[in-house]
Amino acid sequence: MSERKQVEISKDKIMEQEKYIEQIHRMNEDLFNRTGKRKSCICSTFGCQMNEHDSEMLMSMLEAMGYSRALSEDNADIVIYNTCAVRENAELKVYGNLGHLKNIKKQRPDMKIVVCGCMMQQAHVVEEIQKKHRHVDLIFGTHNLYKFPELLLSTFDKDKMLVDVWDVDGEVVEGLRSNRKFEIKSFVNIMYGCNNFCTYCIVPYTRGRERSRRPIEIIDEIKDLVANGVKEVTLLGQNVNSYGKTLDEKDRITFAELLREVNKIEGLERIRFMSSHPKDISDEVIYAIRDCDKVCEFLHLPFQAGSTSLLKKMNRHYTKEDYLRIIEKAKVEVPNIAFSSDIMIGFPGETEADVDDTIDVCEKVRYDSAFTFIYSKRRGTPAAKMENQIPEELKHQRFNRVLEVVNRISGEKNQEFMGKITEVLVEGKSKKNENIMTGKNRQNKTVNFTGGDESLVGKIINVRIDDPKSFSLNGKLVEVIR
Ligand code: 5AD
Ligand code: SF4
Repeated sequence: MSERKQVEISKDKIMEQEKYIEQIHRMNEDLFNRTGKRKSCICSTFGCQMNEHDSEMLMSMLEAMGYSRALSEDNADIVIYNTCAVRENAELKVYGNLGHLKNIKKQRPDMKIVVCGCMMQQAHVVEEIQKKHRHVDLIFGTHNLYKFPELLLSTFDKDKMLVDVWDVDGEVVEGLRSNRKFEIKSFVNIMYGCNNFCTYCIVPYTRGRERSRRPIEIIDEIKDLVANGVKEVTLLGQNVNSYGKTLDEKDRITFAELLREVNKIEGLERIRFMSSHPKDISDEVIYAIRDCDKVCEFLHLPFQAGSTSLLKKMNRHYTKEDYLRIIEKAKVEVPNIAFSSDIMIGFPGETEADVDDTIDVCEKVRYDSAFTFIYSKRRGTPAAKMENQIPEELKHQRFNRVLEVVNRISGEKNQEFMGKITEVLVEGKSKKNENIMTGKNRQNKTVNFTGGDESLVGKIINVRIDDPKSFSLNGKLVEVIR
C-alpha cells in the first residue's frame, strides 16, 4: 500500500475536515457569484449496502462543499466510483468505465476523477490504475473516507494522481455527515469489517477487522433519523450476529439486546438487519424477531452452499443440518417469516452432488428470494489457490439449474399471498406507472397497489393482493392503518 499508518480517528479529526469543506465551499460560491454556474458531481456505487451508505456520506460532503448533482458523467466536474472487490465483474466494469472517462477528460481536463472503496484496498489494483489509468486524480480506500474533503482539495493544484490508502483498520468513526435525504428508509451501520475469512471472500482484506459501534451512538443516530421522518431502518454489518464483541465491557450488549433497544424508539415503524452469519445467530435473535413488534418477519441468512464438505472448505463453520435447524426454529417461533439467502455456485471442487445439496436446502427452506452468485476467483484469498477450479461453462450450467429452482419457489411463495391482506409501508409512486403506488410489506416483498396517492408516502396501510407476480405483489388499498 502507498502509505502505512496507525489510525486513531477521533471526532476532532473529522471536525477538522469541516475546514476543508468550508474552503472548497467558498471557492464554489465565488465561482457561482462570478459566473452563475455551479460545479457538479456524480457518484456510481458498486457492491453492497455498506458501499451505498459510504456513497451517501461522500455525496453529503460534496453537497456541503456546494456541488450540485450531475445527471451524467459526460458533464460532471467530479466523477466518483465507489468500487466493490467481491466479484470480478464489478472490477472489470470499473476499469471499463475508467477507460471511457479518458476521452471525456481529454476534452475537459479540469474534471476530477476519484476512485475509492474496496478495490482500492488491494495493492495490485492501485498499481494497475497507476499504470493504465493515469487520468485518475484521486484514489483512497475504505478506512479514510472521512478525509475526502482534504484529499479533494489537494488535487486542485496538482496534475499528478494522489493515492491515500491505509492498510490498517480505523477505529470506529463517529460523527461523519451522512447525506440522508430523509426519505422513509435508512441504512444504519452498527459495525464494520469482518473476522470470518470465508475462503472465497475478499471483504476481510478490504474492510479490515470487525469493530462495533457503541449502542448509544446507534440509538442516537436512529432517534435523529426518526425525528426527520425516517420510518424504517436497516441495521448493517457483515455479520450482525457477532455485534458487540469488540465493545468495552461497560457498553457491551448482544445483537439481540440491540434489537430490543432499537425496538423501544418511538415513531420508528420497522427494523430490518443484514447480513447474518448462520454460525453466530443465537436463539435470542430469533426470539427478538418474534417479540419485537418493529422487527420485520424477514431473515436474510446466507447459506452459500448446501454441502457440508463444501461449507468446510469455505470455512463457514456450520453444517447443512445446523443451517436447516436454525431455519426450522425460526419458522416455529416466527409465523409468517420470510427468508432470503446468498447462494454460491461453482466453488472449487464442487460436484454435481454438492449442487443437489444446495437445491435440497432451497426446497426445504423455500426462500422468498435469494441472491445467486457464480464463484469468482479473488486474488489473495485461499480459494483462489485451491485445486479443481470449476470451468466457466459448467459453473453457468449449474447456476442456471439452481436459479430455476430459486425462481420457481419465490414465485410459488408469492402466490400464497393471493387474496390475502398484507401490511405495507408506502414508499412512493411506481416508476412504471404514475397511477400505481408502491412499498414493501414486512416480508420485504415489493407491493404495488391502486387506490392510493402520494399523500400515503410514509404511512402503514393494508393492501389486498389480487395479482401476485414472480417478483412483486399487486393489489388494492384496503385501509390506512397509521
Ligand atoms: N465469488 C462470488 N460470490 C462471492 N461472494 C463473496 N465472495 C464471492 C466470490 N469470490 C458472495 C457471497 C456473499 C455475498 C455478499 O457475495 O455469497 O454472501
Ligand atoms: Fe465475506 Fe464471509 Fe465475512 Fe461475509 S462472513 S463478509 S462472506 S468473509
